[in-house]
Amino acid sequence: MRSALMLCTFVGLFIILNLSANDAVVFKFTNFVCESYNKSFIVFNNCRLKAINRNKVILNMNATILHTANAVTMHCKLFKKANGFKPWIIDRSVDICRYMRTGYDPYFKIVFGLFHDFSNINHTCPFVGHQILKDFYLRPELLGLLLPTGDYLLALHWIFGKNTVDTNVSFSFVEDLLKSK
Ligand SMILES: *[C@@H]1O[C@H](CO)[C@@H](O)[C@H](O)[C@H]1NC(C)=O
Ligand SMILES: *[C@@H]1O[C@H](CO)[C@@H](O)[C@H](O)[C@H]1NC(C)=O
Ligand SMILES: *[C@@H]1O[C@H](CO)[C@@H](O)[C@H](O)[C@H]1NC(C)=O
Repeated sequence: MRSALMLCTFVGLFIILNLSANDAVVFKFTNFVCESYNKSFIVFNNCRLKAINRNKVILNMNATILHTANAVTMHCKLFKKANGFKPWIIDRSVDICRYMRTGYDPYFKIVFGLFHDFSNINHTCPFVGHQILKDFYLRPELLGLLLPTGDYLLALHWIFGKNTVDTNVSFSFVEDLLKSK
């Protein structure tokens, strides 16, 4: 019952933005933190945001996987800020190797759609070597849904067998009501 209600809420958010609405949306990164818990397995050479202007912030990441990874699971949890960050709607695990073959997960499809043009993380397993996100910025037209105005944290916990990595991305989504008139 409760999860059916959550699903309805989420589906209710799927409102395709029209072009004029896009101009009135600010969708940008506010923080990015990378942590590897086994630096013999994966190291971050770069993990950084850079503000280009008031509404555009680019994300760069360069991580090196030192041993071939044939299985990758990602746990994805979205938080929304309201007196601290509270879990919000999405809390799920994705089998990345399966996703890369079949595109099976509709939630990760949204996240992947946002970054895959900026990345070499665009192929099936295995993963090894430099994993790059270059000059990645958020485009509301690719989100395909209208979020409530607010600050969010997307916590991505990557599991490579016993080795794990966290990449935590914060962003704000602001609908500018003045501009959309
Ligand atoms: C860290 O990763 C390396 C390479 O995969 C592995 O040999 C080592 O056992 C791992 N260390 C720990 C503490 O799990
Ligand atoms: C990623 O970092 C490695 C190690 O510093 C470097 O050799 C490589 O050129 C970098 N790749 C990109 C695309 O920046
Ligand atoms: C994956 O990304 C690399 C580097 O950006 C690019 O050269 C390659 O064509 C991409 N492959 C696919 C299948 O999109």
